[in-house]
Amino acid sequence: MRVRVALMRSPASVAAASSKSRRLTSTAISPSKPAPLSDPFEVAHVDLLLSPKSPFHRRTTILKTCTSTQEILRTQLPPAPAVLATEVQTKGHGRPGKPWLSENPLGLWVSILLEVPSSQLPLLSLLASLAAADAVRALTQLEPALKWPNDLLLKNRKLAGVLVETISRVNQPPLALLGLGLNLHQQTADFPPELKDSAISLLQASRQRIPRSQMLVAFLENLTRRLDQPTPEAMEDWRRACLQLGRTLSIRVGTTILTGTAESLDDSGHLHLRLPDGSLQKIASGETDFPA
Ligand code: BTN
Repeated sequence: MRVRVALMRSPASVAAASSKSRRLTSTAISPSKPAPLSDPFEVAHVDLLLSPKSPFHRRTTILKTCTSTQEILRTQLPPAPAVLATEVQTKGHGRPGKPWLSENPLGLWVSILLEVPSSQLPLLSLLASLAAADAVRALTQLEPALKWPNDLLLKNRKLAGVLVETISRVNQPPLALLGLGLNLHQQTADFPPELKDSAISLLQASRQRIPRSQMLVAFLENLTRRLDQPTPEAMEDWRRACLQLGRTLSIRVGTTILTGTAESLDDSGHLHLRLPDGSLQKIASGETDFPA
């Protein structure tokens, strides 16, 4: 998969750049008393951290507030690639149309408008989840697990989610709208009661405050790398990080709920579910139960 005008840094330099900037700007938190939140989120800082060769260099806009970065990109349709982040969303949404609580500046709320070949659109959510996990690993040394098809988990709680939507065009492949919501600085009281046991932030998991600009840059650089990587290698990484393989799962596909054993994940991103009657269902997308 190629992002137009993709120019790459090597994985080693991406990891090195990420860990270098972590040393410069992340804040370790004492277990007893978290420091007050200070996480300025500026385009100039993002572009300073991002390699000038990145296809996303000078493509970022950061808003103070908006309804949803997905909706703003969909209606304004800037030239692709475009990165739109915001401090706060008043109507953030996830899959499938569920609200995504982001009315505070405590996470990375970002959408990216991308042109990718339509044959590779079905894998975009999986590749973006891998890139988000790469970024978390590079900045914190934590190893998020992946929950098919779009969640990052730490301690069996949801750290981040990816949402891919499309915008159809006449005589051209659809554009992809890739959204990422990643919890960074929340503490227990910042999550609503119904999410306290199922959501987690990087602050809770690692006692570190990772600045949003650093996380955004690490995500964009790893996304570029994952989009250019041969699919079988990326899917091998997905299988390694996926918690569900070998387990019994219930998956909602449209209005049907299928329960069976998750046998494998193929290179097209389809989950193979063995049903109690012995038949095998290859599922392209669906909602799996939580926790994993
Ligand atoms: C999910 O887990 O269901 C996906 C959540 C995606 C949330 C992000 S936050 C930035 C972008 N804007 C939105 O309204 N949604 C995505």
